Amino acid sequence: MTTAHPVTASSADVLREAGRRRTFAVISHPDAGKSTLTEALALHAQVISEAGAVHGKAGRRGVVSDWMEMEKARGISITSAALQFSYGDAVVNLLDTPGHSDFSEDTYRVLAAVDSAVMLLDAAKGLEPQTLKLFDVCRHRGIPVITFINKWDRPGRDALALCDELVERIGLQPMPLTWPVGDAGHFRGVLDRRDGQFIRYARTAGGATAAGQERLSAAQAEAEEGADWVRAVEEVDLLSASGGDFDLARFLDATATPVLFGSAVLNFGVKHLLDLLVELAPQPTPRPDAQAKLRDLNAPFSAFVFKVQTGMDPSHRDQVAFARVCSGVFERGMVVTNATTGKPFATKYVQQVFGQQRSTLDTAYPGDVIGLVNATALRVGDTLYTDKPAVRFPGLPSFAPAHFAVARPADLSRSKQFRKGIEQLESEGVVQILRSLRRGEAAPVFAAVGPMQFEVAAHRLVAEFKSPVRLEPLPYTVVRRLTDPAHRSLVDGNRSEVLTRTDGVDLALFTDSTTLGVLRRLHPEVVAALEPLVAGNT
Ligand code: G4P
Repeated sequence: MTTAHPVTASSADVLREAGRRRTFAVISHPDAGKSTLTEALALHAQVISEAGAVHGKAGRRGVVSDWMEMEKARGISITSAALQFSYGDAVVNLLDTPGHSDFSEDTYRVLAAVDSAVMLLDAAKGLEPQTLKLFDVCRHRGIPVITFINKWDRPGRDALALCDELVERIGLQPMPLTWPVGDAGHFRGVLDRRDGQFIRYARTAGGATAAGQERLSAAQAEAEEGADWVRAVEEVDLLSASGGDFDLARFLDATATPVLFGSAVLNFGVKHLLDLLVELAPQPTPRPDAQAKLRDLNAPFSAFVFKVQTGMDPSHRDQVAFARVCSGVFERGMVVTNATTGKPFATKYVQQVFGQQRSTLDTAYPGDVIGLVNATALRVGDTLYTDKPAVRFPGLPSFAPAHFAVARPADLSRSKQFRKGIEQLESEGVVQILRSLRRGEAAPVFAAVGPMQFEVAAHRLVAEFKSPVRLEPLPYTVVRRLTDPAHRSLVDGNRSEVLTRTDGVDLALFTDSTTLGVLRRLHPEVVAALEPLVAGNT
């Protein structure tokens, strides 16, 4: 995406380009500072010379559109799904994981397209619910995670306590690479554990330009920082004694996480994070196809669709499919084959619809994300390829739903269109569809990771199928997978029921954990047949 290469890029070119890629996402709970960190990362990569002047939600939307302008001016590639920039010799792809009210299955699917993740924590809050859910997916997929403890510039928790929380709540061994000097709120800088030096940060006005920093020897640090430095050294000794020394193999096998302390808003520690991503995070590796055979990075072009964004404007069926390149070179204008349908897909529309703004999407290599416009025929999980050998990657997994609602046609005369619409939404992964004999065919249940998925589904049923839907929320909060259908009748009751998803998985839904507890006590035989669902493992 950065520079145009001829279609005939050699296999050595592809391997070299793939080796430069670092494709990752930031996972965080809303308000931990993801937008601020994203800006700061771009700033350090010198994509922008001044961090978007405005912080804060409304202003930040402005920043994104500023990026669009910058994209034109500087030839960097930004889509709503990925920000790409060069950093030294590396090409960094930062994929967006939408948070806030638009938390949905899409948020999880992004993690199928990355090679590593940055877990961003608020120093005052530590692990929060959304971080935990996203982290579960990382764990399940074996994605290496770097942890950035943010907002150290203001009062927060104790650094050792935050590290303990990683072990105790998610079983992830922290391996701090830096250690804060000065309590949260009195941040002086960090001790660099790799060389024992003190990196002292110098504030710049409002953090609007890259933070200045200076390196001091341990002796100088002790002379100038006194008790704060001595305490940091003592705590680092404690870390070494408790297995907190850096081990690359454990980072790569996702059992331990390098930890950095900083402040995104002041640009403290952000450059360090970027340097570590380039140094330690994995480059794209050959991806297993549906038969578990690895597709070499320098095999002909292949990619899989991990996100489909449908315009909410019915008069304008604009649909963009975002695909991650797995092998070979993508050249705009290529005709690729959709492995699901066997049909060709011409990628020239990338240019037509986005015009000038997407003109940089000329070439992409493994690890890059391409946004295919007018892609109404593409679905989440589809594989695209060109040239033999044909390839098909495994579809994306379904994720543990947390919201449920019975869906009925609001206009009975449109029941046929309603059924067709539901089939379509299900096949696109917009919502999961659950059914049971008890509820009957006419009243399927929508299940979703985030409630916004319901809104999208309802809107599309009206806009595309002229079939409005009536959604009746169901009060379930606890979900288990029922592995033995023989126990179905034990679960079905007033405050619980079993519903079957289209992929055949039986989900046992309970209004609350007390109901589940009562069932377990009354029918101990059912306990073994009720498995907890992991976010990325349903
Ligand atoms: P998000 O995308 O993860 O939701 O977080 P976002 O970057 O929007 O940051 C949430 C709030 O936290 C913002 O404050 C932001 O300025 C602040 N923040 C982010 N990083 C840091 C940090 O390192 N230190 C401190 N002290 N604050 C940080 P806001 O009140 O929403 O906006 P603003 O008025 O402060 O700009």
